[in-house]
Amino acid sequence: MASCSSCCQHVATPGVGGFAAASRRETRAAGVQVVGAGRLQLKKGAVCGEELFRGQSLQGLQRRVRRSGGSVAVSANALAAQLQEERAEKPSEARVILEVQGLRAVVADTRQEILNGVDLVIREGEVHAIMGKNGSGKSTLSKVLVGHPDYEVTGGTAMFKGENLFDKEPEERSHCGLFLSFQSPVEIPGVSNMDFLRMACNARRKARSLEELGPLEFYGFVAEKLGALNMDPKFLDRNVNEGFSGGEKKRNEILQLSVLEADMAILDEIDSGLDIDALRDVATAVVGLKKENNAILMITHYQRLLDYITPTYVHIMEEGRIVKTGDMSLASQLEAGGYNAVQNLIAKN
Ligand SMILES: Nc1ncnc2c1ncn2[C@@H]1O[C@H](COP(=O)(O)OP(=O)(O)OP(=O)(O)O)[C@@H](O)[C@H]1O
Ligand SMILES: [Mg+2]
Repeated sequence: MASCSSCCQHVATPGVGGFAAASRRETRAAGVQVVGAGRLQLKKGAVCGEELFRGQSLQGLQRRVRRSGGSVAVSANALAAQLQEERAEKPSEARVILEVQGLRAVVADTRQEILNGVDLVIREGEVHAIMGKNGSGKSTLSKVLVGHPDYEVTGGTAMFKGENLFDKEPEERSHCGLFLSFQSPVEIPGVSNMDFLRMACNARRKARSLEELGPLEFYGFVAEKLGALNMDPKFLDRNVNEGFSGGEKKRNEILQLSVLEADMAILDEIDSGLDIDALRDVATAVVGLKKENNAILMITHYQRLLDYITPTYVHIMEEGRIVKTGDMSLASQLEAGGYNAVQNLIAKN
């Protein structure tokens, strides 16, 4: 094993899509520090050489990193390829949280078909991102899953934690741990945010056979969540979303999510309307809520959110169905070249 202090002071620049395909969390776990887009900074004195990496699992690599007391230098392309291989070789054994098959739905009033056969499987610990042109059906999918009355399911199935979602009322879906952060959160005049959050929290706790929280206990519980979101406690005394700015509404949606401790969070354009600091706060809070036994489905138009919350899978939706699934590199291709750039991939899919 050769230690290569000279080459370990410079940075390795990966080829197109290389770094993007490797998750930041996994890269960091492997002892490689990431600096800027697509660059790996190697610690001085790090063990260098792709041959050390080849043929090893990430866990094996981590063990070697720990033994060497430093970090291991590998090209991002090699790392990405290895991660892809590991994922392909070992199909996830994590429990399926949501399984949608052939889902079709129409607008209840007009019978206009919007969802046209959506297939989607989400497992515990996964983060999925759905991208797609305006009007492709992303919000409709999320609203149909939580039981919005504007839509009628005309075909297909949706199983949530092994139970038929469509047998349940919207509030039962919420009690079971399904959460939707709306693209355009509604205002509820006359209902204080504090009362709303506490009632929602207690309804969910009751469904999980947990003791309900009294006002004082709840204040302590929610104060911590507010802190994580850099939210002023005065928002608790205001009516739900009433007069909130666009960004404040989005933060409030994530506050609801953190209070409800959902198993599956659907975040519909949580990044829209957020300033740069708010985007970082909200994304950091979402990452903090991520656990091994829950999952996130994010709908977004931009890679900027995915830079904070690395998705396991990226899907493209078109005309009411998912037409392409890939990893983070798909979002990078979209960002770089728009939907035209991925049209040939979709055609081949
Ligand atoms: N309640 C409704 N009544 C009439 N048309 C609807 C309704 N809901 C959705 N649609 C139509 O269905 C299509 C898909 O809408 P949807 O909101 O799901 O798109 P989207 O992919 O979320 O778009 P965006 O990226 O702009 O948010 C659009 O053409 C929209 O006008
Ligand atoms: Mg939408």
